[in-house]
Amino acid sequence: MPSSRRPTPSWLADAVLYQIYPQSFADSDGDGIGDFAGITDRLDHLSWLGVNTVWLNPCFDSPFRDAGYDVSDYLSVAPRYGTADDLAKLVEEAGRRGIRVMLDLVAGHTSDQHPWFKAAAEDPQDHRYIWAEGTAGSLPPRFVASPGSRPGGFLPNFFDTQPALNFGYAREDPDEPWRQPVDAAGPRANRAALREVMDHWLRLGLAGFRVDMAHSLVKDDPGMTRTCELWGELRDWLDRTHPEAALLAEWGDPAVSVPAGFHSDFFLQFGGPSDGLPMRSLWNNMHGTVADHWTQRTCYFDAEGGGSAGPFVTAWESVNAVIGEQGFAALPTANHDFSRLACGPRTAEQLPPAFAFQLTWPTLPAIYYGDEIGMRFVPGLPDHEGSVLGPRYNRAGSRTPMQWDDSPNAGFSTAPADRLYLPIDPEPDRPTVAAQRAHEHSLLHLVRRLIALRKATPELGPRGSVEVLHSGYPFAYVRGERYLVVVNPRRAAATLPLPRRALAAGRPVETSGVTLEGGEAVAPGFSFGIFAL
Ligand code: GLC
Repeated sequence: MPSSRRPTPSWLADAVLYQIYPQSFADSDGDGIGDFAGITDRLDHLSWLGVNTVWLNPCFDSPFRDAGYDVSDYLSVAPRYGTADDLAKLVEEAGRRGIRVMLDLVAGHTSDQHPWFKAAAEDPQDHRYIWAEGTAGSLPPRFVASPGSRPGGFLPNFFDTQPALNFGYAREDPDEPWRQPVDAAGPRANRAALREVMDHWLRLGLAGFRVDMAHSLVKDDPGMTRTCELWGELRDWLDRTHPEAALLAEWGDPAVSVPAGFHSDFFLQFGGPSDGLPMRSLWNNMHGTVADHWTQRTCYFDAEGGGSAGPFVTAWESVNAVIGEQGFAALPTANHDFSRLACGPRTAEQLPPAFAFQLTWPTLPAIYYGDEIGMRFVPGLPDHEGSVLGPRYNRAGSRTPMQWDDSPNAGFSTAPADRLYLPIDPEPDRPTVAAQRAHEHSLLHLVRRLIALRKATPELGPRGSVEVLHSGYPFAYVRGERYLVVVNPRRAAATLPLPRRALAAGRPVETSGVTLEGGEAVAPGFSFGIFAL
């Protein structure tokens, strides 16, 4: 079936995604690590907020060398999160509130503790992983010495404890016999295994998957042709067997991944023709997670106002031109690998314009847990479960426990503070859900109103049109010909002459500071306005 005619689950266009890092959200049993029952206890927060689709980072059996992205059994939940029944209860209770739950499918690699890998390390005839001959000193570049009786070594996909599953190579080479074709027995078995894993969870009522490193499956794949074919095949199977399920890629290149078969893909800190620049050009102020190769100008959401929304708009337009109605691009506020919005010099007063933009732009919005109250990226934490990726790249700062209230450990856990998964943000004025619920002028209430507005207003959703009036300061655009959005994330005021009379007559719907006067949008520092036309 041509990809343009693939059906898309009807619920997806209205999805407001919320990412939960399960170890850091809510701890129900006092062991210091978040769990399913904790999430279930806090579902009322999510339904009050209005999000309708949750995705959970991996919650499967794992030695946790990469915080669960090293899966040792795809069909069992990690005991630290509870039991399969606890997960079933979470899914059921979420469903009663109209919230879908998606899991994380780590498709490209397993843990080196997975029984598949342990078997492969003993059996030279096993082809589930990518295995080369040689001794420790003579292995091909990047290969890691075998831990078992099998000679040679294996190719890791991320950390050395994460052996790449063998989905084949797009190009073969007689001198490199580990380059198997994509239809060899090992790759076929792995594709079948992916279907089995998906089928298992979807039958239990899960709504789909965020797919980890979805781009990484077929190796040496110029143009990603073979990797795209693989996902197309899986999507065809999904459409036949679970047509209501959705696949969200961690790929960072929606113009490639959505036509391939994903329902959606994120603009990420990496990926795509400019290696993550569109997303980073919005948010990345080089103060939280920083990869050494990131050289970039000031981001748009910067108080000094040295950025532009242009690179993001351009990327979005080219993505949209390619994917059309086939699926959606998604835009996260942050994620478990990337700095939160509140990071470095970006202060609480700078967050409302960011949410006003994210929740009125025609991408699917994904809110990273805690960003709705402006939780901060916490610098200077020790390496934990593989959080450190480079000298300036410690993901732990984005993974600290959710701040619920003013009780010990911010209400996250009753464990002694030194037993928490990661420390609570030590700042005395750290934001909490309870404090912000009590104040209508809080970020939390604003995010809630913006979500409600988006859900009630098709023009503001992913299918409504967007006409960009200005991508400097202020950023201004018209949605669905009926709503004017003006966003000024810098400290200095900004003014924009409006090109049409009708725009200047807009009626305020949700505003903070911006007014329409004398044919202009007048935007004080750190302001936004949404106007009905
Ligand atoms: C993805 C995950 C990241 C993990 C890596 C390896 O990028 O988001 O957290 O470390 O894949 O699985």
